[in-house]
Amino acid sequence: MRAGLTKKGQKELYSKYLYDDLGTALFEAITLLPEYGLTRADLRLLSEHAADLPDHVRNVSVVVELGSGSGEKALRILPHLARLGPLTYCPIDLSGAALIRCQRDLADIPQLTVVPIQDSYIDGLTSASRLRKPDTNMLVLFLGSSIGNFEPPVAEGFLGMVRQNLKPGDVVLLSTDLVKDLGRMLAAYDDILGVTAAFNLNLLQRINRELRANFDLKEFRHKARYDDSEQRIEMHLQSTAAQIVTVNGDFDIELRKGETIWTESSYKFRTTQVRLMAERAGFNCAIQWVDTEWPFAQNLLCAR
Ligand SMILES: C[S@@+](CC[C@H](N)C(=O)[O-])C[C@H]1O[C@@H](n2cnc3c(N)ncnc32)[C@H](O)[C@@H]1O
Repeated sequence: MRAGLTKKGQKELYSKYLYDDLGTALFEAITLLPEYGLTRADLRLLSEHAADLPDHVRNVSVVVELGSGSGEKALRILPHLARLGPLTYCPIDLSGAALIRCQRDLADIPQLTVVPIQDSYIDGLTSASRLRKPDTNMLVLFLGSSIGNFEPPVAEGFLGMVRQNLKPGDVVLLSTDLVKDLGRMLAAYDDILGVTAAFNLNLLQRINRELRANFDLKEFRHKARYDDSEQRIEMHLQSTAAQIVTVNGDFDIELRKGETIWTESSYKFRTTQVRLMAERAGFNCAIQWVDTEWPFAQNLLCAR
């Protein structure tokens, strides 16, 4: 946080810090907003295709979800697989609040054991893969287009690290939001009720709470913009005045009027880009299910 806020040029913070307990609750609210079509598209595709998953990934003993959030999406998938035999579900998330909801909401599925892992994606996946029974396969879920939060080379490197934790026969279900009409893309990150603004501003309040900083939230404004050449939505917090913020009595952050702190990128994809990225990372892209109402793809990637 210190490195990102004191660096020369564009100040930035990792988007993973958005998800403390309040940030997690605000994200849940975002998924219900009329402007945020991503979650509904993801759920529509799961409603249509989740029952077919056992045909594509056989003999599954462990399902791992990277950044599970509340586990609402896994709830659509797990009953189809648990029906075939005992199954372990490992939701991996940095947010303890999200994992508590997962455990509560998925407890009733017969033949399912939930093993929550509070860790970062890859470390969590490494721990979860130890739970796999011999000669069985794993299904990894990475939904909500969270892969879009990484810069493209990082996203590809990340998929490569996921692949290193898998064996041939294992499958990744990867969701990706697709490039679409500019107005719809922007509104999804700048809703009229201001919930996304609250989600973004909570990051500064979190730093105030946890690191004893003195950000004055009235002096910041939420900004969302689209960079066409990079195919990404950027979320920023813009300083509305020249100001100096102190963190923990330890160091100062100087902000000019109009200067921004970049808090999240959400890259948008074309289906061909996803397929090529997956192939370079060691997967075959077997299927791409596309939602037509809100252009969005679920990609079924088979470890080679
Ligand atoms: C955008 S939400 C998506 C939640 C859910 N997968 C969905 O599709 O609605 C991202 C989730 O990933 C978690 N997360 C973000 N960065 C993470 C990281 N590096 N390691 C583990 N979890 C992370 C957040 O806490 C949050 O619950």
